[in-house]
Amino acid sequence: MWRDQSAIGRDAETGGYTRGGWTPTEREATTWFLDQCATRGLAVESDGIGNLIAWWGSPDRPGVVTGSHLDSVIDGGAFDGPLGVVSALAAVDLLRAEGFTPSVPLGVGAFVEEEGSRFGMPCLGSRVAAGVLSADKALALTDRQGVTLAAALEAAGTDPAGVGPSPLLERMGTFVELHVEQGRGLTPPVGVASSIWPHGRYRFTFEGEANHAGTTLMEDRHDPMLTYAMTALAANKQARLAGARATFGRLSIEPNGTNAVPSRVIAWLDARAADTATLESLLAAITRQAVERAERDGTTVAVVPESVSPIVDFPAGLRDRLVGVLDGAPVLPTGAGHDAGVFSAAGIPTAMLFVRNPTGISHSPAEFAEEDDCLAGVEALAAVLKDLAQ
Ligand code: GLV
Ligand code: MN
Ligand code: MN
Ligand code: MN
Repeated sequence: MWRDQSAIGRDAETGGYTRGGWTPTEREATTWFLDQCATRGLAVESDGIGNLIAWWGSPDRPGVVTGSHLDSVIDGGAFDGPLGVVSALAAVDLLRAEGFTPSVPLGVGAFVEEEGSRFGMPCLGSRVAAGVLSADKALALTDRQGVTLAAALEAAGTDPAGVGPSPLLERMGTFVELHVEQGRGLTPPVGVASSIWPHGRYRFTFEGEANHAGTTLMEDRHDPMLTYAMTALAANKQARLAGARATFGRLSIEPNGTNAVPSRVIAWLDARAADTATLESLLAAITRQAVERAERDGTTVAVVPESVSPIVDFPAGLRDRLVGVLDGAPVLPTGAGHDAGVFSAAGIPTAMLFVRNPTGISHSPAEFAEEDDCLAGVEALAAVLKDLAQ
């Protein structure tokens, strides 16, 4: 099962995956999921944006749902997302082989555009489902080609009019997401999440003056690339000082010619910290330094938050129950965002299991987890589901 799924859309050159929401590779992975559910006789329910839950048992009352996402970042790894979906199906197989019958419906979920790699909004499917992002705002989001989400849904045969808060949430009595850990935070193969750091994506638009690279004196320039570069250095320094994270991982440059001073640089900052106050003061410090630098360079900078994800503390009772089932597995926070965070904030009792990531590399083709650790993850998930659904 893992091999079939992980062959879908793997780039022959990099070994990575680019499965933005509603792209051919992501659709292929979704079709694979639907086939797997059909093979197991699991009835799949979809909501308006395309989040899926496949049910073992009739979902006539709130059940226990586990799952993750099948989309990826640009040139991402094999595990971030798919590990949680494949492990969920494998855990169902394991429980069935043991002869277990859940006393509440047990669901396997696959949630759309978790990474936000196509439309820029992380956890797009779960945010819309939970009603924290309105249908109007979601449908107006555009990808890098200017295609709106509404148009992408139509192209995929989905009526945009159905997008909105999801009835699936009422069926999620409890949600458990298994995920690769992504930060070298685990010594044993499996751990339990305590919290998700607050984080956000902020668009910095630096404006200057396009000019000739050969004839314009250095002191005559209004170069927004320079302002951006100094801002990136400041962000790195401020994040180090705060014990936080700041990343500029995406740029758009106009006119993007080698022999012209740019007129505009748009840079997206991803900032994260262990607590809200630290995140806010980090953003304030980076913005202040960007503004100061812009004044020196004769450029301007405007900062717009594109998405903000508040801190998530997973409910301690459920977390401790998982730790109990797993004989004292370690508990750890994460700096990565997850649909589990959105569902938890929406009031659904939610927990996460992490599988060891020995390299600490993620969001990269080099992302890795040992096969034995993944199998330990499936066993842990099955034990947790059995406990929650007995
Ligand atoms: C998603 O995985 C994120 O945390 O950026
Ligand atoms: Mn990710
Ligand atoms: Mn993920
Ligand atoms: Mn994520």
